[in-house]
Amino acid sequence: MGRVAGKVAIITGGASGLGAADARLLAAEGAKVVLTDVQAGLGREVASTIPDALFLEHDVRDEGQWRHVVAQTIERFGKLDVLVNNAGLVRFADVEACGLDDFRLQMQVMVEGCFLGCKSALPHMTKGGAKSSGGSIVNVASVAALKGISAIPAYSAAKAGIIALTRSVAVHCQEQGYRIRVNAIAPGAHDTPMTRQALEQLPGDAAGLDQVNAHGQGRPEDVANLVLFLASEESRQITGTHIVIDNGETV
Ligand SMILES: NC(=O)c1ccc[n+]([C@@H]2O[C@H](COP(=O)([O-])OP(=O)(O)OC[C@H]3O[C@@H](n4cnc5c(N)ncnc54)[C@H](O)[C@@H]3O)[C@@H](O)[C@H]2O)c1
Repeated sequence: MGRVAGKVAIITGGASGLGAADARLLAAEGAKVVLTDVQAGLGREVASTIPDALFLEHDVRDEGQWRHVVAQTIERFGKLDVLVNNAGLVRFADVEACGLDDFRLQMQVMVEGCFLGCKSALPHMTKGGAKSSGGSIVNVASVAALKGISAIPAYSAAKAGIIALTRSVAVHCQEQGYRIRVNAIAPGAHDTPMTRQALEQLPGDAAGLDQVNAHGQGRPEDVANLVLFLASEESRQITGTHIVIDNGETV
């Protein structure tokens, strides 16, 4: 108990899957959590089960909504220590079939959403000092950024963009003297509505399902444990990197 005691965290995409598990675990370990999502009904339901949690309807593509989310967080809890840029979606279509609209949608939600999150949060995040420990940003990428999966070229490109963005923002924080660590995580398959949708939509022998077939699926709590570690001071020497959590899929 208490590994992130006293910290205040925003988790995007907090209504479902990995984001909801992150919010539950961070709160159980002492953080005040703000869940945001486009799915307002579900988001409010999840937040109502977490003590003191705040839910805000939020499309991560919208810079104005980001300003509102950060301002509401500071108004409610007085500060911001942790940002988990988790919101995401996937559309299945290989490079020849993928429409430009679908390609852009995935880049907007994941790369632009992550960029806007870092840009909006950084000026208001705890920056550390003699008496305080500083902040942490965790950007949710995927093993899709690290290997070729023909069914999801746009998703893969977006997740690789997140890893590159993470490095750049981490270096910026160090150059500015901010004690804010910025890392990405790259999960393999974990059992969430997104993965269930993939299993329904893709044929069983689809290349993109290698990970599920050969390496099984983790639980959302497995990823939440990694997010908790990166949010906590236990990872104080880790910044600018990505950590793979895929049961050996990319080894
Ligand atoms: N589940 C996996 O196996 C897996 C593996 C690797 C990476 N990921 C990544 O983890 C993150 C969470 O995925 P999940 O598996 O929990 O999926 P999920 O579908 O259960 O949850 C994603 C959440 O993001 C929200 N969202 C989508 N577009 C949004 C937008 N524009 N603004 C705000 N919220 C938006 C959705 O409403 C949903 O609640 C995603 O970034 C996903 O790409 C998941």
